[in-house]
Formats: sequence, structure tokens, C-alpha cells
Amino acid sequence: LFILAACTKPLEKEEPTIVVGFSQSGTESSWRKRHTESINEELAKENYQVLYKNGFMNQERQIQDIRTFIAYKVDIIVFTPLKEDGWEPVLKEARDAGIPVIITDRNVNVTDSSLYLTHIGPSFKAEGNRAGLYVYNYFKEKDQKTINIFELKGLASTSPTTLRHEGFSEVIQRDSRMKITQTKSGDYIRLKGKEQMTKLIQSGEINKIDVLFSHNDEMTHGALDALKGSDIQPGKELIIITIDAQEDMILKLKSGDVNAVVECNPNAGWYVRNTISRYLKGNTIPEEVYMPETIFSDQSPLKTIPTRNY
Ligand code: AHR
Repeated sequence: LFILAACTKPLEKEEPTIVVGFSQSGTESSWRKRHTESINEELAKENYQVLYKNGFMNQERQIQDIRTFIAYKVDIIVFTPLKEDGWEPVLKEARDAGIPVIITDRNVNVTDSSLYLTHIGPSFKAEGNRAGLYVYNYFKEKDQKTINIFELKGLASTSPTTLRHEGFSEVIQRDSRMKITQTKSGDYIRLKGKEQMTKLIQSGEINKIDVLFSHNDEMTHGALDALKGSDIQPGKELIIITIDAQEDMILKLKSGDVNAVVECNPNAGWYVRNTISRYLKGNTIPEEVYMPETIFSDQSPLKTIPTRNY
């Protein structure tokens, strides 16, 4: 009787494993390392099989990685585009194959937004606004005729670079004394930040600059290294505003070497996992998911800054 009962017990249906292809743009910063970890850690909490590929800051390579995911017939693609343009063909290939795409961190510039399911990331424009507001408030009461700003930009043609510049410019326009008098690109890389600041010091142009607005912490570290070889005191003679809020930059804020650190939240994993699970359950997914962020500065309590995980 027992054998019969065991034989007639209906077989439990096994859930099919969901395969997620995750294409990351590179490994240029501690911020990026945390962004990758955060997504991989959260996806590991589900019964997903994750195929991870690093594009090593090469767009062609990233396009090939996505084509590999399409050939493998993955269920979902998660990807951080290195740059804004040039994704339309491969996104169309994913759509034709019926594979939804989640874009995270940087965004793509496409005319047809139905080419991807959603974008999950920071509001880069708000980050630029926060940086601008710090500078605006810092000089508001100061009796200074001109305020010259050196903008150390991130990689060109990327949404953080475009929007951080836009957000910053929008705010500083309120004060006619403020001008971005020098703009250079450091590609979000420490060594390039150092190179650009070294050139500014060697040309003597640094003496005309009041503010450094740097698009990320890695480049700021490079710039600070270069400043060690000058007689300019960072944080005092040169006001420094940087973006990301890596733990190593919070230490620089605490020691007075930088004045303000705008947070860029790399912890996208939970949002990506939640979005995938809601999508699989048939929920409607919003086109844009912004992650919470703030600013830390010498104008606010430094002791209460939460420990960073990047
Ligand atoms: O796209 C986000 C930016 O890219 C981060 O600010 C930076 O650190 C990274 O390289």
C-alpha cells in the first residue's frame, strides 16, 4: 500500500532556472567594484543563474558580451552602458529575441525607449545640482569679485558626465561671479585626474582657480596627489567638491582636504533584484527607478556619516 501511495504521489514541478546576463562596463573605480558586487550579491539571493561579463571600458567588447547573452537565450539582460550612444542595434537584437533589458547606473541614448524595460540608477543631474548648491552657498556671503571653477569631467559621452555638468551649471548660473574657466577630462580614472591637475599646476593656471569640481572620487584622489607637489592648500585655498562618496574620500573630507562629497549610490543590487522579481510576477515596471542619495560636507556633522561599503 505504501509503495502504491508513493508511486501515485504527483511529481513536484521544478521551477525553471532564470538565467540573467550581466554586462558591466569596466573596473575603473572602487565605486564600480561595489556596483558590480552589489548586483552579483543580490542576484545570488535568488535561484538565478548569473552570467557575468566585464567590458573593460570597451564598448565593442560590451556589445559582443550582450550578443553572447542573446545567443545563450538568457531570460533577462542587465547592463551598464560604458557610453550613451551606439546601443540601438544590439538592443533591437535583444528585443527581437524577446529578452527584456534592464539598464543600470549610466543610461543609453536611444530614440525608442521601449528597447529596454527600465533604467535603475542615480539621478546624475541631482548630483550636479547638489555640487553646485554647495559652491553657491559657500561663496554667497563672501566678498569676492570672481569665482573661477576648474571642472574635471568624467568620460565623455556618458550620462553621468553630461548630467553632472548640466546640474552643476544650472545652479552656479544664479551667481554671475561664478564661471567654469577650465574644463578637462580625466575619464573617471585616478591617474588621468593626476595628469590633468599636474598640467594645471605646471602651467601656473592653478593660481587663478578657486574651485575644483571633480566628477568622481578617483580623479579627485589623483588631483590631490598632484597638489602635494604645489604650494596650494586643498580644502582651503582651493575648494574641492567631488562625487561618489567612497570611504577613502570621506576620510579626506574629515581631514579637511576636500570640502564636499556628493554621494553617488552604487548599491543597485536590491533594486535590480526587486525589479526582476516583480517583472517575472507580471507587475508593471516603471521606466525609471532613481536610487536615494545625499551630500556630505564640512557644513554638516561629519561624525554621523554612515560607514560606506565602497
Ligand atoms: O557611472 C557612475 C560613475 O562611474 C561613478 O561616479 C564613477 O566613479 C564611475 O566610474
